[in-house]
Amino acid sequence: MKYIVKSMVPVAVGCLLTGCATSGVRMKAFSSIREYTLKNKNGMIVKITNYGARITSIVAPDRDGNMADVTLGYDSVEGYINAIDRPYFGSVVGRYGNRIGKGRFSIDGAEYELATNNGENHLHGGNMGFDKVVWGAEVVENGVKLTYLAKDGEEGYPGNLKLSVTYTLTDDNEIVMHYEATTDKATVVNVTNHAYFNLAGEGAATINDHVLQINASRFTPVDEGLITTGEQRDVKGTPFDFRKPKAIGKDLETDDEQMKFGLGYDHNWLLDRKGDGMETAAVLHEPKSGRILEVITEEPALQFYGGNFLDGRLVGKSGRAYEHRSGLCLETQHSPDSPNKPDWPSVILRPGEQYDTTTIYKFSTK
Ligand code: GLA
Repeated sequence: MKYIVKSMVPVAVGCLLTGCATSGVRMKAFSSIREYTLKNKNGMIVKITNYGARITSIVAPDRDGNMADVTLGYDSVEGYINAIDRPYFGSVVGRYGNRIGKGRFSIDGAEYELATNNGENHLHGGNMGFDKVVWGAEVVENGVKLTYLAKDGEEGYPGNLKLSVTYTLTDDNEIVMHYEATTDKATVVNVTNHAYFNLAGEGAATINDHVLQINASRFTPVDEGLITTGEQRDVKGTPFDFRKPKAIGKDLETDDEQMKFGLGYDHNWLLDRKGDGMETAAVLHEPKSGRILEVITEEPALQFYGGNFLDGRLVGKSGRAYEHRSGLCLETQHSPDSPNKPDWPSVILRPGEQYDTTTIYKFSTK
């Protein structure tokens, strides 16, 4: 395993806080943004930056050993800061990844109001979510551990949340993501990684010919604002049935209300789990390159987002435009709006408890 640590292209710290596009004032803080390169014995390379705790690059072999970067993103911090429509490329999202209806919830009778940054709803932690902050970073065996203290009241959330995510790369071509957190006041936590994949290589055309399998018999229908209705619907006979491997494009254009609300796939699947250990949630296969991504997790659900908001305006690290549906996310998590769905698995973390969850992206070929 080799580590290369370099500073990412400098930007003004003011931009980190506001998302502006100006450059260069308080240079001192720039040096805190780093990019870590992990390489395993097979030559697989994964790059991680502490700006947003994000994966900036995943270089993986195809069936003939040809390497390609299979995740969307930029080669400068500025790229991430200035990306229009905030695609969350590669980042950790939270404190609550995904949506909370009207940005409101209560714990033990205390009501909380969060930033509403997605219409009337809260999405991916709000205006200054975990994707927009600089995390602490330390090199650990085979990887990097990133830490962040989300303050009591940040974006409206209760409790000082001490959070870490440790990324490691194994010689089995697995990116292991281990999240841990504690709090000093009851709060909600639901963090996940928001990497976009195109197994033909980032910048390649649509992912609609990728073949996807999701181990889930039910999904959670949503309203127009993509807030779960509370229903848990059988996938049988719907475009949401990925129990057997299916090309993503196959049922994409069917006349289904849910597909209209999501503008395609932007939904949450309830995983068919045997227990609470590491289990395969989804397998993605790109037939031409032979590349396979397996998502293994302890989490109960999976958001499959088909890149419906990509429209060619974002130009990525290799100079290619990210066209409509040219990348997809497989985000392991608890279902959207769980804080307001008391019967669903709890997302509450209390003082004295330890939030501890692992997800793996495993690469192979066939
Ligand atoms: C998520 C959401 C999508 C979209 C993307 C970011 O996965 O579910 O609706 O907001 O993030 O573009």
